[in-house]
Amino acid sequence: MLSVEKEAGMDVSGKTAVITGGASGIGLATAARLAFAGAKLVLADIEQEPLDQAVKELQATGAEVLGVTCDVAKLGDVERLRDATISEFGAAHVVFNNAGVGGGPTIGSPIEMWRWVSSVNLDGVVHGVHVFLPLLLEQDEGHIVNTASLAGLGGVPGMGPYCATKFAVVGLTESLFYDLALRRSKVAASVLCPGFVRTRIAQSARNMPDDLKGLSASGELASLEGVASAAVAAGIDPAVVAEHVAGAIERAEFWILPHQHVAVRTTEQRLGWMQGGTPATIDLDKATRGG
Ligand SMILES: NC(=O)c1ccc[n+]([C@@H]2O[C@H](COP(=O)([O-])OP(=O)(O)OC[C@H]3O[C@@H](n4cnc5c(N)ncnc54)[C@H](O)[C@@H]3O)[C@@H](O)[C@H]2O)c1
Repeated sequence: MLSVEKEAGMDVSGKTAVITGGASGIGLATAARLAFAGAKLVLADIEQEPLDQAVKELQATGAEVLGVTCDVAKLGDVERLRDATISEFGAAHVVFNNAGVGGGPTIGSPIEMWRWVSSVNLDGVVHGVHVFLPLLLEQDEGHIVNTASLAGLGGVPGMGPYCATKFAVVGLTESLFYDLALRRSKVAASVLCPGFVRTRIAQSARNMPDDLKGLSASGELASLEGVASAAVAAGIDPAVVAEHVAGAIERAEFWILPHQHVAVRTTEQRLGWMQGGTPATIDLDKATRGG
């Protein structure tokens, strides 16, 4: 059995944090929280205008911020992000692979939907880890935070492609955690699994490739998006999630569970199901409120 020593956490003051999906929601709130703690920021996003706005707003608070337009689904863009980070700030310490999109159900989604959701939510995280991890290992300092979801801890109806990618991100990050422990590396890894958070995730279609926009306008998809939008609108404030992310970096904690109660309950139910009990169901109401 692998014994794992607890890593010391990181004081982010004067360190550089790279945040993908940094122009909105959880990414932007975390940027503001880390800047408050004295971190320099590199915000990466596919949306130019919100990115420019976010950079301006954070700079107005006195933060040092670089904005980089980047599609995390493209390895070359993430390599460009690394190069821009190094040339501006000389190093990266926190890498928050957070950009993500919601997608359709397993039944009825065009294959292009699977590919798009997977390219952003999974390939995007893989690219961030692949490109930045060698730098962190070399300096033997840093923290990788990957964004999954409660949908990475239990199956959710109507969200097959999204669940598939979020389970994968949990698996990838857990595996990375053990790799780092085996090397006795000072680099830390965390996975973020929130329930519903009040962000623009339900409007993810704004970033779909044009060919998918036409294909995905089915009635079934629209009604599912309605359910998701209502839950997201009733979700917790992204600043609450940002506080959890900052705390996990400061204390080197692996699991970041802003809805810890639901995460644990869902996992217990799945365990019971594996042992012959009834299927687990995520409590939508509790997954909206924090705790
Ligand atoms: N909001 C929730 O309820 C919730 C719950 C669990 C997990 N999450 C996860 O949190 C993460 C952040 O989402 P959010 O809720 O803040 O939504 P959001 O839409 O407010 O922010 C996501 C950001 O990612 C950017 N983005 C999308 N595709 C991109 C790409 N290809 N390359 C670079 N940037 C891209 C968007 O432009 C946007 O700025 C996602 O991974 C999401 O799956 C959200």
